Amino acid sequence: MLQRRIRLPDDKIPTQWLNLAPYLKNPPAPYLDPATYQPASPEQMAVIFPMGLLQQEMSADPWIDIPEPILDIYSMYRPTPLHRAYGLEKALGTPAKIYYKNESVSPPGSHKTNTAVAQAYYNKMEGVTRLSTETGAGQWGSALSFACKLFDLACTVYMVKVSYHQKPYRKSMINVWGAEIFPSPSDKTNAGRAILEQYPDTPGSLGIAISEAVEDAATHDDTKYSLGSVLNHVLLHQTIIGLEAKKQFDMIGESPDVVIGCVGGGSNFAGLAFPYAVDKISGKELKIIGIEPTACPTMTKGEFRYDFGDTAKMTPLIKMHTLGHDFVPPGIHAGGLRYHGLAPLLSCAIDEGLIDAIAVVQNDVFKSAVLFAQTEGIIPAPETSHAICGAIREALRAKEEGKEKTILFNFSGHGHFDMSAYDNYLAGNLIDYEYPEEKVRESLARLPKIG
Ligand SMILES: Cc1ncc(COP(=O)(O)O)c(C=O)c1O
Repeated sequence: MLQRRIRLPDDKIPTQWLNLAPYLKNPPAPYLDPATYQPASPEQMAVIFPMGLLQQEMSADPWIDIPEPILDIYSMYRPTPLHRAYGLEKALGTPAKIYYKNESVSPPGSHKTNTAVAQAYYNKMEGVTRLSTETGAGQWGSALSFACKLFDLACTVYMVKVSYHQKPYRKSMINVWGAEIFPSPSDKTNAGRAILEQYPDTPGSLGIAISEAVEDAATHDDTKYSLGSVLNHVLLHQTIIGLEAKKQFDMIGESPDVVIGCVGGGSNFAGLAFPYAVDKISGKELKIIGIEPTACPTMTKGEFRYDFGDTAKMTPLIKMHTLGHDFVPPGIHAGGLRYHGLAPLLSCAIDEGLIDAIAVVQNDVFKSAVLFAQTEGIIPAPETSHAICGAIREALRAKEEGKEKTILFNFSGHGHFDMSAYDNYLAGNLIDYEYPEEKVRESLARLPKIG
C-alpha cells in the first residue's frame, strides 16, 4: 500500500513556536500611533490586545514556549498529516514529488485555529471576557468562535458582507460555537454606519470589518480585539505548521526544494515557510514562493511602506507591503486573500530576498482546485487553491526541465463552505481580474509619507 500520509506521533509535537524576527537583517519597523505617527506605546496597544500577546509581538527571542493548555487543545487535531500527492503527480506526469501539509483537519477547517486557540488562551489568562474580530472567508471567524467556546469567552464576529452572503453556513457554524456575527459594514459601529451612509451597496472589505471590530474592542472594557493574520504573534503561532513538517520530512529522510503557500495577510504561508527561511538564511538552497490573486496583488504590486491596517485609520500604522488602506477589492471567490496589507515579518523577508511572489488569476486557481479534488479527493478552499496552482506550475516546470524536485505546499483549509464558488466556476461565470497599477498608485498617494 502507498504511504500517502506521514504522521508525526502525538508526543513529538513541537512545544515551542519559532520567531523569525531575530534572524532577519532588518526586523519589522515599530508600529506608529495613527494620530501622531510616533511609535505606539505598549500601553496604547494594550487597549485592544492583552500583554501576553504584545510581549510576543515585540519579542526578540527565537523560540517561545507553547503553554500546556494550548497544546491540550492542539491535540484535538495536531500534529496534522503531511500528505504525498501521488494522485496529482500522476495526473501531471511530473517527475516532481508533491507534498502538502493538511491544515484542513482542524475542527473549523483551516490553519486559523492554531492562532485562535493561542489568542483566546492569552486573553483568558488576563481576565478578558469577550473578543471581537473580523472575518473574510469565514474561516477565521469560525476558528475564533471555536477557540472562545473552549476557553469560555464570548465572541463577536464582523464578516465581510460579500462573503457573508456567499457562505451562509459559516454564520451557522459560528453560531453553533456560541458567537454572534454581523455582516460588515454593519450598523453596530460608527465606522460601519459611516461607510454604509457613503456606500450603501459596498461589498465590504477586510479593512472595513477590522475598523468595526477594533472600535467594538476599544469602546468596551471587557473586550479585546483579535486579528487572524498579519501581526507578528499570529505568524509566530502558525510556525507550528512548518516545524511539524520539518520533523515529518526528517522521518522519511527527505527535504523540500520548493516551499509554497497562498498569501492573504501572510499567516499560513509564513507558518509553513519561516522554519525553512531560517535554513535559507544559514545557506541552504531553497525556493520559497508566496501565491496571491491578481485581484489583490499586495506582494507583486504593493509598496513596502507605512499604512493603516484598516479603512477607518484606527489601527496603528504598520510598515508592510500595501495596496492602500482604502482598497476595496472586487468580490473574487477567495475572501481570505482580499486584504490590502501584508504581514510586516513577511514583508521584511521579501525585502531581504528570502521569498519570491507570484500572482495568479482565479480561473487558473479553480482549474487547479478541481484537478486536486479529482485526484486527491479533498475539496480545497479557494484561498488554498492558489497554493495548489503554484505547486502545479512548479511541478510542470520540473517536467519541462526533467528535474526531480520535491515540492511542499500548505493545504491551509477545505472548501466545504465554498461550493457556490465552485458552482460559479463550473458554470463558466468567473471573471479574471487584474487590479490596475494606477489604482494602487492613486491610493498610495493619499497616504502620509513616513520614514
Ligand atoms: C483557508 C485559508 N487559507 C488562507 C487564508 C489567508 O490568510 P493568511 O494569508 O493569513 O494565511 C485564509 C484567510 O481567511 C483562509 O481562510
